[in-house]
Amino acid sequence: MEIVIVPDAAAGGELIASAIAELVTRKPDALVGVATGSTPLPIYTALTAKVAGGLDVTRVRICQLDEYVGLPAGHPESYRSTVIRQVVEPLGLSEGSFIGPDGTAADVAAEAIAYDHALAEAGGVDFQILGIGTDGHIGFNEPCSSLASRTRIKTLTDQTRIDNARFFEDDIEQVPHHVITQGIGTILEARHVVLLATGANKADAVAATVEGPLSALVPASALQLHPHATVVVDEAAAAGLKLADYFRATYAAKPSWQSI
Ligand code: F6R
Repeated sequence: MEIVIVPDAAAGGELIASAIAELVTRKPDALVGVATGSTPLPIYTALTAKVAGGLDVTRVRICQLDEYVGLPAGHPESYRSTVIRQVVEPLGLSEGSFIGPDGTAADVAAEAIAYDHALAEAGGVDFQILGIGTDGHIGFNEPCSSLASRTRIKTLTDQTRIDNARFFEDDIEQVPHHVITQGIGTILEARHVVLLATGANKADAVAATVEGPLSALVPASALQLHPHATVVVDEAAAAGLKLADYFRATYAAKPSWQSI
């Protein structure tokens, strides 16, 4: 696992967008998995700027990490709507370049399995962007999710619903209880997994992910098993890392030609 400590969220966004730009230049039809929430927004801003500057993303494909169950189609806080608004439209992509699970499906369990298969049929995810919950979740794999889990329905913890109430007029009652999320086993199949964490409220989860034991209690610790996982953190989110100086020195000594 590579840990990169950046000065702030914007620098993290720029670093990750640059890695995506390199990937797309090498593989124009790359499948990029996108997270929602607040953390990845600097990545999408930086990537959009690269497109404005001439980066060709016309063949890029986008896939969702997770989706709320039960929000009506077109609800502005559904992750489909969010990804279209924050990623697909700013990059000038068509909705046809984008796949995600249908949170309104009558048979949610079958929809989750079908989405897992759709990711494989699409050739697998080349680059998966992740955020992290204050409880250590990735996607919506809450604590004690199986480290081998596949895409399925999950129940959100109260903590996650409280954290996400800000997207629902600060009203926890409006936050759905259930989601479809790529499983941890599914996420680990992506060729490169990049987690961005910013802000002091993520420091404990980051420390447990990077320096704690591999444990279902901290779902993000499963990234320790991935052969190409990158954790990008700002100074505030890095505050709990015992090996911060080592991570800084390692990154500073990295050859300039080598991407994350
Ligand atoms: C969102 C997702 C979640 C978020 C996490 C952090 O698609 O899968 O794991 O990444 O809840 O959310 P923010 O970035 O809003 O703190």
